Amino acid sequence: MKRIRITEVGPRDGLQNEKAIVPVAAKVAFVEALSAAGCSEIEVTSFVPPKWVPQLADGAQVLRAITRRPGVIYSALVPNERGLEGALACGVDAVAVFAAASEGFSRRNTNGSIDEVLARLAPVIRTAKASGVRVRGYLSCVIACPFDGPIDPSAVARCSARLLDLGIDELDLGDTIGAGTPDSVEAMYAAVASVVDPAATILHLHDTRGAALRCVERALSLGVRSFDSAATGLGGCPYAPGAPGNLATEFLVRALDAGGWHTGIDADAVALAGSQVRAAFDSGQADG
Ligand code: HMG
Ligand code: MG
Repeated sequence: MKRIRITEVGPRDGLQNEKAIVPVAAKVAFVEALSAAGCSEIEVTSFVPPKWVPQLADGAQVLRAITRRPGVIYSALVPNERGLEGALACGVDAVAVFAAASEGFSRRNTNGSIDEVLARLAPVIRTAKASGVRVRGYLSCVIACPFDGPIDPSAVARCSARLLDLGIDELDLGDTIGAGTPDSVEAMYAAVASVVDPAATILHLHDTRGAALRCVERALSLGVRSFDSAATGLGGCPYAPGAPGNLATEFLVRALDAGGWHTGIDADAVALAGSQVRAAFDSGQADG
């Protein structure tokens, strides 16, 4: 069976961008519904300053409250050593650090240049690995930046190499603003392939008018076997103006099922989990 690995990022990348602040209980129910739907990797939350992302200020409470399913990897996004400490104290299985291929987004999203952010991440990656947790390294704006415009694939390759040199276990390439087309994704991978096998990377697509699935199809032809997505296409990025939601997990799973790929995920159950968490902010149960 041809297997594809999907990381469900709705609880983090999805909820970080919603105006409403979803209550802890609804977040916990969301994560538990996702694991029951067959999601085997779930990015649960982030440990960033609450003034940057108030939507996820309760990450520790959520991580402590969820009933964990054996075999499922529960992870958190961390920007610095303080965030890492918070995540480790909650017993995460993996962490994700993040840098950008563009200076404009690096400054707006992480308050530092690319060089400064990579220097900040070096001890985070070292400590995480010494603590025995897996480290994912996101690189944002691999196709285009909301501030700097189109990004040269060679810049993506250079930043990828630097993140890999810092010791990340896996590179996650983010099309933060959903600018990708099959051809631009292929051009990006042509450059990145000089530093890492595409099969060892993860592709993280935000979705503009259905383009993400066409990018997935091209990426599959290039050997990519790991993707990120969010139930019902939740999300965006609060520091990337106009960033569309993530590729919807149920669309991704259905497209992969139709192509004979195996994901282990029940698309209908994921869609239901996403609509239930949306009800928590649509119905006014949320605070924000
Ligand atoms: P900064 O403001 O320069 O940080 O932010 P600082 O070190 O000067 O600290 C400022 C205050 O925050 C201090 O408190 C610190 O103690 C506190 P104060 O003295 O003002 O009371 N602080 C913390 N509190 C809680 N947890 C922490 C923490 N660290 C410091 N971890 C920083 C720099 C990098 C921390 C900030 O810019 C940041 O966290 N940015 C992240 C914003 C974010 O979460 N963006 C969305 C996620 S990235 C994304 O969505 C893209 C992705 O999906 C891939 C893609 O699509 O491409 C991953
Ligand atoms: Mg994202």
